[in-house]
Formats: sequence, C-alpha cells, structure tokens
Amino acid sequence: MNTKKIILFASGSGSNFEEICKHFEDKKQFSIDLLICNNSKARALNKAKAYGIKTLLINKESFYKTSSTLDKILKITPDLIVLAGFLWKIPTKIIDKFPNKIINIHPALLPDYGGKGMYGMNIHKAVIENNETKSGITIHFVNKNYDEGKILFQKAINLEGTESSESLSRKILKLEHKFFPKIIEKALNNG
Ligand code: GAR
Repeated sequence: MNTKKIILFASGSGSNFEEICKHFEDKKQFSIDLLICNNSKARALNKAKAYGIKTLLINKESFYKTSSTLDKILKITPDLIVLAGFLWKIPTKIIDKFPNKIINIHPALLPDYGGKGMYGMNIHKAVIENNETKSGITIHFVNKNYDEGKILFQKAINLEGTESSESLSRKILKLEHKFFPKIIEKALNNG
C-alpha cells in the first residue's frame, strides 16, 4: 500500500491539529509524518507527542534564511502540507516545490477578512464590529500572496444580533473541526 504522507504546520492551541490527528489515527493509508511549529510553548507540540508525531521547531532565521526546513520537508516528500493555525508566510522556495500541495484554513469567508494581520480573534472582532450577517471558514491552496490561493471549500454561518467575537470564535472552531479533516482527506485522494 502506498501511504499518503502529511506534514502539518501549527503554532497555536492546536485544536485543529488534534482533530486532524484523531481523524487519521486509524486510517493506515495516511500518515502524519511531521509537525512544524514556530512556538516552543504551542500546545500543538504536546499534542504531537501524545500521538507519537515527530516535531520540528523553527525560528525566523532558519525558516527564511536557510533551506533547512525545506530540506527536512523534501526528505519526507509529503503528498500534502497542511497549515492548521500557522501565521508566518511560507517562503517562496517551499511554495515553488509544492504547487497545489499546500493548503491553509482561514477563519473567515475569503476574500473578505484576509491579508496581513487578519488572523484568529482579529478577524472575529472585525466581523462583529462591521455588523456582518455572515461569517464562516475557507480552506484554500497557498500561493505567494497571503490568503489568495484557489479556494477548495467554504462554509458560511449566519450571525445573530447577540453574537460576540468570543461566541463567533467558538462557532468557527467547531466548523473547522467538523470539515477540515474531511477536506484534507479529499485533497489527498484527489491529488
Ligand atoms: C484557527 O481558527 C485557524 O483558522 C486560524 O488560527 C486558528 C488556530 O486554532 N488561522 C488563521 O487565522 C490563519 N490566517 P487552533 O490552533 O486551535 O487549531
């Protein structure tokens, strides 16, 4: 059997990372080979340990000025690279080697609320301040421009008048957990 290999980038609380690990745990045709993380305090690192997944801690110097991260990725030759709560821009040298093989999840309905500075709670606060009636999630390919790659999947939810950025954040995370692992599997099967 040809195992499909996944590399994940996650630097936050790692809740999506954990859902992805759970989803693929018993699916022997897929393997999560590495978690790449830029924050030594990220909860994703402990979660990776619990699942027996190797980790690589990176810093800005090594990530942008050397090819050490790319070299590690190339050794694994992943079928898909998944950004699950990773906020640094992916260097062109990595994007060029993996066209249509890097996907990201964004907690809003792109192209709205995308671009630099638009991540996590910043997005939910802006959505509430602008009295939007909808928000949602977007899963998209990563290209050289922040949040502008081809969209693979979106799911919208209606917002209530009483919505706060905190309640919206909880709803969005729930949506992400429900759909992201399935869309990753679909992308792997189509790739
Ligand atoms: C998720 O909501 C994800 O969409 C967002 O970070 C959160 C990570 O949560 N990503 C971005 O904002 C990317 N621009 P998690 O660490 O609990 O999975």
